[in-house]
Formats: sequence, C-alpha cells, structure tokens
Amino acid sequence: MSPPLRTLVLDGSPSPAGGSRRLAAAMLEVFGGEADIIRLYDSPVRPCRGCGGCAADPVCALDGDLADFPERLAGADCLLIVSPIHFASLSAPLIAFFSRLQPFWRARRRGRDLLARRPGQSALAASGGSDYPGMFAPARAVAAAVAKTLSIPFAGLAAAAGTDRLPVAENPAALAAAARLATEMLAAVRQKAGGGQEV
Ligand SMILES: Cc1cc2nc3c(=O)[nH]c(=O)nc-3n(C[C@H](O)[C@H](O)[C@H](O)COP(=O)(O)O)c2cc1C
Repeated sequence: MSPPLRTLVLDGSPSPAGGSRRLAAAMLEVFGGEADIIRLYDSPVRPCRGCGGCAADPVCALDGDLADFPERLAGADCLLIVSPIHFASLSAPLIAFFSRLQPFWRARRRGRDLLARRPGQSALAASGGSDYPGMFAPARAVAAAVAKTLSIPFAGLAAAAGTDRLPVAENPAALAAAARLATEMLAAVRQKAGGGQEV
C-alpha cells in the first residue's frame, strides 16, 4: 500500500472561506494524506533586501522567519501554491516569501543542492475576480520560476476566473479541472515512488 501523501501548502490567500482555498481544497481532497499549511497572511516573512549575503553562505541573512522551510519542504511529496490574483500577480506575502528563496537560486546556479529530499510535483491554485484571456499568465510564470528554483517539476495551474460574478464553490468546471490536475500529480508522485511503475 502507498504511504499517505504529504502536501506542503503555501497559502497566500487572505480569505479563510475564499475562492483560492476552495480550489486548493478540491486538490487536497484528491491528494488525501496530510497537509502542512503555511499561511502567509498569518505569518508574513520579510522580503529579500538584496544584501548578497547568500552569495557566500547559502543561508538568508534575515533568517528566523523561514528557518524550518527547507525541512518542511523536504518532508513533502507535493508543493501547492495557493493565491488570489492581486494586481495581475500572486498576493504580496507570497511574492515576499519567494524573494527569500534567493539562496536556493544561487545554490542551483552553482550546482549545489540545499535539499536532502524534495516534492515530486508542484502546482498553483489561483482565483481571480476578472475573466480575460491570459489573466493567470503572470502568476503562473512566477509559480513556475519558484518550482524551477527549487528543482521541483511544475504540473501547472488550477484556475478559477470570474469570481466577482461566480464564487468558486459554485463553479463545478473549475473545481473539476483542479481535481483532474491533482489526479495527474498524484499519479506522477506515485509512479516515481514506485520506481517507474504506478503503485
Ligand atoms: C488587492 C486586490 C487586488 C486584486 N487584483 C485583481 C486583479 O488584478 N485581477 C483579478 O482578476 N482579480 C483581482 N482581485 C480579485 C481577487 O483575485 C478575487 O476576488 C479572488 O477570487 C479572491 O480570492 P480569495 O477568495 O482566495 O481571496 C483583487 C483583489 C484584491 C483584494
């Protein structure tokens, strides 16, 4: 039997009963197992100040507020980034958090690995009030860049547009698409755990 899946959720939504979390819940339901949730509006991190300290030592000079992130990431099978669209991008606490991944970016460029283990899949779950072509592209590009920095495969985007008119909870098409993406991610993680064969 497969061990329960562990998902690290980087939750950048300010809304406890909001659309982005509803979308993420549809994915977590498919994953099953345990979710370790970092709520960035509850515990915001300071943004990178560009001090360059991580060029010499792969530890952020601001330390403290992110100290347990590598361990929590290494303990996860999936990474799920959750965000509303704010000014066409991810929410501000997530952007601040991601700027602090600069030590990972520097290490990767030097061929070093700061993680003993990493999630096998990652994705973005995002909801936005408007509805126009390409509205999720900037947020998706940031999430994909984060996944690349952490050397985690990026499965893509689960999106719900038009939440100004249609709440995510009343959008079965968006919820079904999110569940489909989660199903694909789960299969990929299980396949990797099974050494190439789905288990
Ligand atoms: C500060 C702020 C900026 C926003 N900017 C956008 C935007 O640029 N594009 C958009 O489609 N919706 C925008 N919205 C609407 C939210 O993306 C939308 O209401 C979303 O579904 C909220 O998700 P949540 O319930 O998880 O907070 C904005 C909302 C706020 C509060």
